[in-house]
Formats: sequence, structure tokens, C-alpha cells
Amino acid sequence: MVILGAGPAGLVLGNLLLRAGIDCAVLERSGRDDVQNRARAGFLAANTVRILARNGLDEGLRRNGQEHGVCEFRTDDGRFRLDYGRLGSGDPHTVYPQHELVTDLLARFLDVGGRIRFDTEAVAVSGADGPTPSVTVREADGRTGRWRARYVAACDGRHGAGRRSVPTGAVRRYHRDHGVSWLGLLAEAPPSLDAVGYALHPRGYAGHMARSAEITRYYLQCPRDARADAWSDERVWDELDVRMRAPEYGPLVRGRLVRRSVVDLASDVLEPLRHGALFLVGDAAALISPSAAKGANLAVLEAEILGQALAAALRRGDRAALDGYSDRCLAHIWRAQEFSHWMIGLLHEPPGPEGASPFEARLRRSRIRALRDSPTQQDWFAESYVGI
Ligand code: APR
Repeated sequence: MVILGAGPAGLVLGNLLLRAGIDCAVLERSGRDDVQNRARAGFLAANTVRILARNGLDEGLRRNGQEHGVCEFRTDDGRFRLDYGRLGSGDPHTVYPQHELVTDLLARFLDVGGRIRFDTEAVAVSGADGPTPSVTVREADGRTGRWRARYVAACDGRHGAGRRSVPTGAVRRYHRDHGVSWLGLLAEAPPSLDAVGYALHPRGYAGHMARSAEITRYYLQCPRDARADAWSDERVWDELDVRMRAPEYGPLVRGRLVRRSVVDLASDVLEPLRHGALFLVGDAAALISPSAAKGANLAVLEAEILGQALAAALRRGDRAALDGYSDRCLAHIWRAQEFSHWMIGLLHEPPGPEGASPFEARLRRSRIRALRDSPTQQDWFAESYVGI
């Protein structure tokens, strides 16, 4: 079994396979430091925490994770809070920086004898629909080699070799450009709210998410072609103050902006997620916008589904779960896509050359008020927001 990529998907899968006594090796094109220091998401759904716990992978997050169960919406109509951790199924998020989770998963994988080759890039997967699947790899010194494998799990993300190696005729691609871009910011500053903050403002969306007690994630909706370094730190903070209505609801705690990136919100799903012996997992299977922080949670869920299916097939000869892998994961992926799409419609004026149509703007305002006033809408939101 060869796993491409040492992100959340690849490392959860690798740990599950080792626990089931199945030999596997991970190919990772980056070095260990890069993998462990890549600041990414950090909002773990309750189901993700349960998956990590039942596979003995939750020690770090139990020690340092912070529960988060409240989100605050700031709109022209005023401010309201949803205690989503007590609504619906009553599940909070656990905030635990993803690079810390990846570090934990990696350490555990190596502790139990896992084999990983850093600085080794998978170039292509071939023969996946035949008897001898193999992976062409490029070593750190540039030499290329070929790894044979009974199964290959592509956990190598949106630009990886796994996704590229599926023949175009064997897969359908569902793509959506949401027409919205965000300037993602990481601030060396403690959180300014005790909640996930969503600011809906005529100048554009702004978001606030705690990453840890000292680090906070902010988002600013920006033009499609914006450059991440276009504004000074001070200009960014002033705009965040305006959109989060700081004069009305309290100042933001400022600090140095240590990371900036512009992300164009897009979604992309491949069907099916299996091509013979090749399985697509995590971002290699589907890209989802960060509007509802679902990406890493889907990756962990899919890794567990595939890990259990491979264990049944390789240990007991039962291939039913393996044959059902794609359909089972796609059901979760599309449910997450639907809610993330709904969130994009809630948080942003509908994109368009002439801006939001007045009719669309009224629909959006009604959607926001329903979330503010209707207990059943709030239960649905809570279940969709934290659920996977
Ligand atoms: N060969 C080997 N490794 C590769 C290759 C390749 N050709 N291409 C990419 N990789 C590695 C990357 O260096 C990275 O470590 O694969 C890993 C992919 O990890 P992620 O991009 O984190 O993807 P995944 O594990 O699916 O997690 C997806 O987690 O990163 C968050 O929110 C983000 O939605 C995303 C989720």
C-alpha cells in the first residue's frame, strides 16, 4: 500500500492501516519541517475528534485543543450570536492548529514503525486499472524510480499526482468558481471575540477565527485580482475595524500580520473517487471553499472510511466497503459542499458585474433574519456547521 502525501488525509490513513497490521509507506514531496510547520485550518468538527479519539490519535488535541461553540454575526441589522455548541446535535468545534495535529500524526506514525520518504515526489500513478499498479517517484537527488503497490491512496492534495493520474475519460469533474476572493491573514494577536466572527458589510465580508490564545485568523473579502501585500498592516486593521463595526462592538486586538494569502473561493469534486487500485482522498478527491472550514474534516473522515475498507479487504477478503468507498464519501462531500455554498451566499453580496440585484439582496437579508429568529433554522445551521 502506498500513500501519496503526508497531510491530514495521508497521515490518518497511514496510522489506521498500521493499527490494522497493514504495511504501508508514505511518499511526501516536502521535508519534515515543511510538513509540520504548514499553517492551515484548525477547526475540528466533533466527528473528526471522535475519529481521532477512537483511533488513539487525539492525545495532542485533548491536551491543547480549545472547544468553540459560539458564532457571532454582525450585520446592518445589528449583531446576534448562535450558541451552536448547544443547538442541534449540541456539538462544538475543537480549535487545534492543523500543523500541530499533523505533527502529532506524524510522530505517532513513525513511533509505530511507519515508513515515510520525505523530499520524494510522486510523479505519476500507472497501471491502476491493471494487476500491477505502480508509482513513478522522483527522489531528492533527481533520480526517478518505480514503486509497485497493491493499492495507492492519493492523499497528495489539489495539485498532486494522484488526481492527475486518473484518465480524463474515467472521471467527471464538477467545478464551481464562487466569484468571491478572500485575503487570508494570520495575526500575532489574541482573539478579539470569544466567538467565530462573521461580519456582513456593504464593503464586503470580514471573518474572525481564533487559532490559539496568541494567534488569530482573519479574512477580508477582496477583489479577484488583489495582491496579498497591497495594503499595509495598518490599512488592513483599519478595514477590519470598519467591517467588523469595531466602534460599535469593541476594538480588535491588533498585532503583526505574519501570513497573508489571497484565496479565490472555488469548489471542485471528482466522481468517482476510485480508479481501479487508486483511491482519491481529501483535497485530492474534492476541493471545498473555506467558508465553513470543512476541508480538513472531510479529509479525516474519508481517510477513516478508506482505512477501514482496506483493512476489511486485505485482512478478511471482504471488498464490499472498498467497492462502496466512492459513493459513501461522495454523499458526505456533497452535503458539505451544499452547506459551504449556502454559507457563501449568506456571507457575501451575490457577485456580478452590477453587484447584487435588489431582489437577491432582499432574499439574503431574509435568510440572515431567519437564522437570527428561527430556532429550527438555528438547529439546522448548528448541525450543518459542525457536522460532517
Ligand atoms: N508527491 C508527494 N507528496 C505530494 C505531492 C506529490 N506529487 N503533491 C503534494 N504532496 C503532499 C503535500 O506536500 C502535502 O503534504 O501531499 C500533502 C497534501 O496535504 P494537504 O494539502 O493538507 O491535503 P489533505 O491531507 O487532503 O488535507 C486537506 O487539510 O490542508 C488542509 O484545509 C486544508 O482542505 C485541506 C485539508
